[in-house]
Amino acid sequence: MQKPLIVVTRRIHFEALQKLNELGDLKIWEGDGPIDPITFAAWLKTADACLTMLTDRVDELALSQAPHLKIVSNMAVGYDNFDLKAATARHIMMTNTPDVLTEATAELTWALILALMRNIVPARDDLLAGKWTTWRPDGFLGTEVSGKTLGIVGLGRIGRAVARRAFAFNMPVIAWARDGRATIEERIPRAARSQFLARADVVTLHVPLTPQTYHLVDKDWLKAMKPSAFLINTARGGVVDEIALKSALDRNELAGAALDVFAQEPVDARHPLASHPRVLATPHIGSATNETRKAMALRAVANIRAALSGHVPPDLLNPDSLLSNG
Ligand code: DGY
Repeated sequence: MQKPLIVVTRRIHFEALQKLNELGDLKIWEGDGPIDPITFAAWLKTADACLTMLTDRVDELALSQAPHLKIVSNMAVGYDNFDLKAATARHIMMTNTPDVLTEATAELTWALILALMRNIVPARDDLLAGKWTTWRPDGFLGTEVSGKTLGIVGLGRIGRAVARRAFAFNMPVIAWARDGRATIEERIPRAARSQFLARADVVTLHVPLTPQTYHLVDKDWLKAMKPSAFLINTARGGVVDEIALKSALDRNELAGAALDVFAQEPVDARHPLASHPRVLATPHIGSATNETRKAMALRAVANIRAALSGHVPPDLLNPDSLLSNG
């Protein structure tokens, strides 16, 4: 019997590749960057399964050229690179990797909060530039974290993991969610948007990118924040209107921002926000730990294994894909 063909769009952890190898023949994109759309579409023509990254657009055009494809397994919790509707119409299962990156992303969020508020990067840059001549009573004065209010947007897995760490830093936590769902974590009070933005000293975003959250943080949102407040984004760049954020920073309507994600990635030093003196920018590294990237790869493989052996993948995003046409 012919083995299934599994397309993998980037070299991933070797243990995950070993496991995939037991499931079928592999076609692995070895490039340093994302697979180009033309090669991707060509490879999908004969693929039974595909393991993708968040940098791969899996849309109607790509799926329409993949007659044998049963599953696309994203090695990411976010799946705004997927057209779920198009996949469901074609009975293609789509999966993601929730849970395994929660702690790593919460850790990066805290690293950014602390680094931004305590001016760690400018202080280090000064030291390396040979400018540390003496201890100064007014050198690199930051904002004390302790006692400030942490405002969490989105109390899902990652938002709650960020909240848990806040108690160790002596920060009261408040939350805001668009849908007004009841608070899961009872110790976290929910506030209406105006109250939330008036109280939060740090606003941290933990929502997926959807049509509803696109540019959630816009001009009005930023105007309603305290001028002394900080914005942290480890979710998706599209949640923030970047032009509005730049002008809020330029007009001193906000103290600073830490951004791990951008509307169009990658960015470089020419990007007006990445290079802004009051922005701390990192290159989408929320889940970038050895432990987490391995766990994400293994979880993505587990979803493919389930699909190819006729089971429902544990992280199925579109259960309607299982419905038959009749
Ligand atoms: C995800 O999994 O969606 C993250 O953004 C990857 O770091």
